Amino acid sequence: MNQEFKKIIEGELASIKEKGLFKEERIISSKQGREIMVNGKKYLNFCANNYLGLAGSKELIGAGKKALDKWGFGLSSVRFICGTTKIHKELEKKVAKYLGYEDAILYTSCFDANTGLFQTLLTDQDAVISDQLNHASIIDGMRLCKAERHIYNHSDMNDLEEKLKATQSKRIRMIVTDGVFSMEGDIANMKGVCDLAEKYNALVVMDDSHSTGFMGKTGKGTHEYAGVGKRVDFITSTFGKALGGASGGFVVSSKENIEFLRQRSRNYIFSNSLAPVITAVTSFVIDYLKSHQDLRKQLWENVELFRKLMQENGFEISKQAHPIVPIMIGDAAKAKKMASEMLKMGIYVIAFSYPVVPEGKARIRVQISAAHTRKDIERAVAAFVKVSK
Ligand SMILES: Cc1ncc(COP(=O)(O)O)c(C=O)c1O
Repeated sequence: MNQEFKKIIEGELASIKEKGLFKEERIISSKQGREIMVNGKKYLNFCANNYLGLAGSKELIGAGKKALDKWGFGLSSVRFICGTTKIHKELEKKVAKYLGYEDAILYTSCFDANTGLFQTLLTDQDAVISDQLNHASIIDGMRLCKAERHIYNHSDMNDLEEKLKATQSKRIRMIVTDGVFSMEGDIANMKGVCDLAEKYNALVVMDDSHSTGFMGKTGKGTHEYAGVGKRVDFITSTFGKALGGASGGFVVSSKENIEFLRQRSRNYIFSNSLAPVITAVTSFVIDYLKSHQDLRKQLWENVELFRKLMQENGFEISKQAHPIVPIMIGDAAKAKKMASEMLKMGIYVIAFSYPVVPEGKARIRVQISAAHTRKDIERAVAAFVKVSK
């Protein structure tokens, strides 16, 4: 072991700990669900992206067992060698149709979809213009491409317009935004973004990981919620949250855009196919959602109840209607302490601090699920009231 390097890493770790930024990983010993077991104790879970409560569902497990029997565990191949099965093609078709697009391409995660997108589509003659609070995978995706990079202030349409004006000489301008921002739970102004894109002849990319399956009238996502339809040129999203919560990601767009990604996107070409069991179960989930619209209804009722009770108890929370509800604390150590007090009361929530959120903006991020009952939500609010005192 190189002793100098060892010292550097030890120093970095000590500094992370000193600042109260060290992230503990708790070991879960149960399925993901409204309740989870940690160290032999049961907790109500308020920090999963399990928006529709499907992650541990019996029906999904049943579909998974059948898929394992039929398709085996893995494919040991990338898509273009011998890793494309009938179910991969079926899932791509279903996802595209569900979101209202011509075609879709699968990745093993949305992180991969985002890092595989910009470098494939843009060159040094282009510019990419990104919201300040976009997800880390978008930031890394931008770093990997040769286009000029611009950041606009969070959801600030005036600043976005300035950046569009400043890049008029570029061949292609691509605006990229999260549909819903994961640490804030706020919803992008997609109408504003699409109007500006049209005015300045730019393309729009939206990462809808925290919306696919439940935002909008039929759960398509933020484009449906905002009424912008296919004015968004590319949507990237994940199967790892509302749609069953396993893993996998995708991009939807026009037929030729997807064909081009299939030919050129390095993360697609040089990485193993999505596991058959995940492919089959996600396909099952998309059908399942059509006949289980009650899940979305339940989720939104729960979101409304939690937000209302928190506000009645004096917590300042954003007005945006989304299952992500950040409880702002500020100081990282204080947020961490508060989350561990909540844990003692049987409520599993996590404090987020730098580098996941900006320094000094530590928070506890609550995530509501369709699986929560009214009693669960009342218990969580009561715990917040007690702990905050
Ligand atoms: C906005 C956003 N995009 C992308 C991702 C990455 O998704 P995946 O887990 O499929 O890589 C996440 C996950 O946290 C996310 O919140």
